[in-house]
Amino acid sequence: MARAVLVTGAGSGIGLATARLLTAKGYRVYGGVRREEDAARLAQEGVVPLLLDVTREEDLLRARERLVGEGLWGLVVNAGIAVAGPLELVPLSAFREALEVNVLGAFATVKAFLPLLRASRGRVVLMGSVSGLVALPLMGPYAASKFALEALADALRVELLPFGVRVVLIEPGSVATPIWERSLRRAEGYLEPPPPGTEGVYGRYLEVARRVAERSAKRGLPPERVAEAVLKALESPNPRARYLVAHPARARETLLLRLLPAPLRDRLVARFLG
Ligand SMILES: NC(=O)c1ccc[n+]([C@@H]2O[C@H](COP(=O)([O-])OP(=O)(O)OC[C@H]3O[C@@H](n4cnc5c(N)ncnc54)[C@H](OP(=O)(O)O)[C@@H]3O)[C@@H](O)[C@H]2O)c1
Repeated sequence: MARAVLVTGAGSGIGLATARLLTAKGYRVYGGVRREEDAARLAQEGVVPLLLDVTREEDLLRARERLVGEGLWGLVVNAGIAVAGPLELVPLSAFREALEVNVLGAFATVKAFLPLLRASRGRVVLMGSVSGLVALPLMGPYAASKFALEALADALRVELLPFGVRVVLIEPGSVATPIWERSLRRAEGYLEPPPPGTEGVYGRYLEVARRVAERSAKRGLPPERVAEAVLKALESPNPRARYLVAHPARARETLLLRLLPAPLRDRLVARFLG
């Protein structure tokens, strides 16, 4: 019988590309989505849809009940959102939402399915980001959530070693998916008009944020590249703890920024942002 893998956030972008690739490779793929129309679309592609909002415990429990009989071998914790903007302007509620989905949602997902993964000695693949390695300005809430995911991965990887469950973190750079457009729309909700007292203060920053998002949406890696890394994480007999998936120049930049002393790093980043 084909191995079962659940991919959360499978309705678009990286999750959809991953669900498609795993289906093509012969896995029985369950795709977590939040809307009926996404569920119908996935079903047409041979993916078994599960209505699953990772911030809702009842959804997670229902999804687990569904899988108990068949078992689960792979869990791709992919659902995520990008919350961006100058930190002074980001409302607490938006920051909280980033942590709620990207960190607590990821934690709740792993927690819900761990009994099945322990039974199958399966794999957990977490969708991190280069934003979990280097926090760039205007990406504060998103980076904070992805740094937290790095910590979760490190703790979980060792905790699950005795059970034969491998934990792998994927760290993509910019990928051409709807996340960029969605983050711009979300940010417009709290940045336009700017909160009282900050009118005109961050105008230039907002322009830069828009430019970076538009460029990433156009020129980012295709999501299929990340899906291939997920496949490797699932299939490699000895998977690495982390797979960085980025344009080579972006990967080098990220690793360099991590090594540089803060004053030099800050100057480089500021120059890059103009
Ligand atoms: N694109 C990049 O440049 C990039 C780079 C590094 C890492 N990543 C990470 O890759 C993952 C996928 O992002 P993407 O780029 O493919 O963006 P995307 O197309 O926007 O996909 C995100 C998916 O997560 C789902 N989602 C959001 N909130 C959810 C919730 N509460 N419960 C369940 N599902 C939820 C969305 O579902 P709805 O359609 O229902 O909202 C959507 O299907 C994210 O974790 C992201 O942080 C992306």
